[in-house]
Amino acid sequence: MKNYNWAALGCGDIAGQLAQEMSGKGRNLYGAANRTYAKAVEFAEKYGVHKVYDKIEDIFEDEDVDIIYIATPHNTHSEYLRKALRAGKHVLCEKSITLNAGELEEAVKLAEDNHVVLAEAMTIYHMPIYKHLSEIIASGRLGDLKLIQMNFGCYKEYDMSNRFFNPSLAGGAMLDIGVYALSFVRWFMSSKPDEIVSQVKYAPTKVDEQASILLKNREEEMAAVILSLHAQQPKRGMVSFDRGYIEIYEYTRGVEAVITFTEDGTKEVIKAGNKENALVYEVEDMEAAVSGKVNVMHLDYTRDVMDIMTSIRNQWGMKYPEEEQD
Ligand SMILES: NC(=O)c1ccc[n+]([C@@H]2O[C@H](COP(=O)([O-])OP(=O)(O)OC[C@H]3O[C@@H](n4cnc5c(N)ncnc54)[C@H](OP(=O)(O)O)[C@@H]3O)[C@@H](O)[C@H]2O)c1
Repeated sequence: MKNYNWAALGCGDIAGQLAQEMSGKGRNLYGAANRTYAKAVEFAEKYGVHKVYDKIEDIFEDEDVDIIYIATPHNTHSEYLRKALRAGKHVLCEKSITLNAGELEEAVKLAEDNHVVLAEAMTIYHMPIYKHLSEIIASGRLGDLKLIQMNFGCYKEYDMSNRFFNPSLAGGAMLDIGVYALSFVRWFMSSKPDEIVSQVKYAPTKVDEQASILLKNREEEMAAVILSLHAQQPKRGMVSFDRGYIEIYEYTRGVEAVITFTEDGTKEVIKAGNKENALVYEVEDMEAAVSGKVNVMHLDYTRDVMDIMTSIRNQWGMKYPEEEQD
């Protein structure tokens, strides 16, 4: 496979993790651009990045860049997706890929028109454990999927200088952590859920702090999702079938699952992958997709999840400042 040139747009925490993981595999990012230039320079020195762009726009014009990794706040993704895709670049964009389904559909169309790969950096779709579990489920040993229970809760201060509660940075539980729980649900469900009910509690900043969501699809598989940005919960996923259930902790970068076979009470521990390589799995799958491998990035699931998140926010009547004019 060709050695693709990656450029990071945004040099914050997660871009640093990706650069670190790539260098652990003997790969360096080719380029880096950041709103604050000095931070891009520092980032490039730290991770051995070949090229620093004076301004963000230059990244789109560099003919040597194959894949742009967008790692800025959610509300900036749509603009950068538009520019990158129009410039004919493949794009791996951090979660949540856009603010809403309309923005995502516009990006999908641009990717199709420009014959490039568009994908969300959703760790769950690339951690080896999930591929392994799908094979076990397909073997029929567990029977049919019945229901899924998801928790994701972390405690973040009401601090407007970070993105978590800031509406102007598209904060809130849904786009920040709900996207993981719903991507997990979509991975296991046979089809997109079409019945959705939900409740929300807002933070003082008016973004969603807590949510409970119930989902059901046409196969009558059901899921319950509980989110919080201001109360700790275990990151726990439980997938229940008629002959057993699967439990996964730390599921965003899951490496271990316990399967309980309920007919005889036996347990099987499944281990696969490494947390430390979570972002490298995404990079490898993205390069396979750019090389022509079909549906390794699961953009179809990303679109379903974005539709679900958008319809839930519509139920609540919650809009981000960028959506107010719509
Ligand atoms: N996949 C994962 O496991 C994971 C984990 C954490 C976050 N994420 C996602 O990654 C993205 C970034 O999160 P992070 O934790 O890395 O954030 P972060 O550490 O706060 O970094 C944000 C980056 O975006 C830049 N930025 C901020 N506002 C901007 C604006 N208005 N226009 C252009 N650039 C702007 C910042 O530039 P300055 O240096 O100029 O401030 C910085 O480089 C989010 O979408 C988040 O949900 C993913």
